[in-house]
Amino acid sequence: HLIEWDAEAAEKGGYPHFVIKEINEQPDALRRALLGRIHNGQLNLSEMEHMQKAGLLENIQRIIVVACGTSFHAGLIAKYVIERWARIPVETITAAEFRYCDPIVGPETLCIAVTQSGETADTLVGIRQAREHGAPVIAVTNVVSSAITRLADAVLYLQAGPEIGVVATKTFVSSVSALYLLGLYLGQQRGHLTAEQISTYTQALDMLPEQIQRILDQASSANDSIEPLAKKMSQLSSIMFIGRGVGYPTALEGALKLKEISYIHAEGFPAGELKHGSIALLDNLTPLVAIATQSHVYEKVVSNMQEVRARDAHIIAVATEGDEGIKEHADDIMYVPATLEELSPLLASVPLQLFAYHVAVARGCNVDQPRNLAKSVTVE
Ligand code: G6P
Repeated sequence: HLIEWDAEAAEKGGYPHFVIKEINEQPDALRRALLGRIHNGQLNLSEMEHMQKAGLLENIQRIIVVACGTSFHAGLIAKYVIERWARIPVETITAAEFRYCDPIVGPETLCIAVTQSGETADTLVGIRQAREHGAPVIAVTNVVSSAITRLADAVLYLQAGPEIGVVATKTFVSSVSALYLLGLYLGQQRGHLTAEQISTYTQALDMLPEQIQRILDQASSANDSIEPLAKKMSQLSSIMFIGRGVGYPTALEGALKLKEISYIHAEGFPAGELKHGSIALLDNLTPLVAIATQSHVYEKVVSNMQEVRARDAHIIAVATEGDEGIKEHADDIMYVPATLEELSPLLASVPLQLFAYHVAVARGCNVDQPRNLAKSVTVE
């Protein structure tokens, strides 16, 4: 009696695809991103010591985040939180634009490169130019000794473990959490955040792995609603995503995941911008996914949902557990646990990843290796 041995199946650890395995690894990936970096509710970013001692952070007037693809979306979230926590102006630019825009950078411009592979050509070239102009550089990457690490004054490693699926899932969650830690660190350096505030944020960060686990457990239980919804939506040709504040990059990432692995046309918009053009695209065959988790702009998102509903579009809301009122404004709801507003993208992204995955599987797509895409784009 021969026992069949399939190395690839073994690597997938019982999951049908790497993407779903990696989505399920996110609680652990996040734990490792936070490991040792939070101590007694306070930050312990030893990676930043060298820059701090060398005085490289003292005269920073602004920050530019340079990244591509999913890492660019992580960088957009960083813009919101760093500006809020450290009151330093932040611009997040996609690397392919940054490298050709003759950027105004110097020693007072901190550049943050976000690249899980550490090898993306556009990001490397852009950062090399910034360095030549004297800009201090922090790299956020998953790969030890990757090319970006040689261009950086400080490196924040994600410690997410290998990601085999071409689309970024767990490295997104890890990049965002590393950027949160950096944002809190800068907020503390600038004297804008007290030890008490830091402790509120770090406690909320520490709860996220378990909260993501709850979303995943629910999704793999018999009363999961994401997979049936994904099946129902899988034959549509276009799906729109909206959000405000940190919900906006969350919407962009939800749309990107969907188009990358299911090939359905998807776009993300700032919810308030919809009425200035893109609302013309909506009809009863174009559903809208609204990021409507609790935030200071929650009411605004709801009113944007109402505008859209008046056009007969099917609305799917990502909302905070306990929000019963949202049922009046949405046809389907993906609930996520409550957290602080700034941290909400890490929870809201998970049902959107699962949604994209199940749509892609229902359409018979190659989810681990989508057409035309590469894990890391090392040429221009
Ligand atoms: C490729 C991948 C994307 C990724 C992007 C940036 O396009 O397909 O999933 O987000 O590169 O990769 P990086 O390694 O720089 O984060």
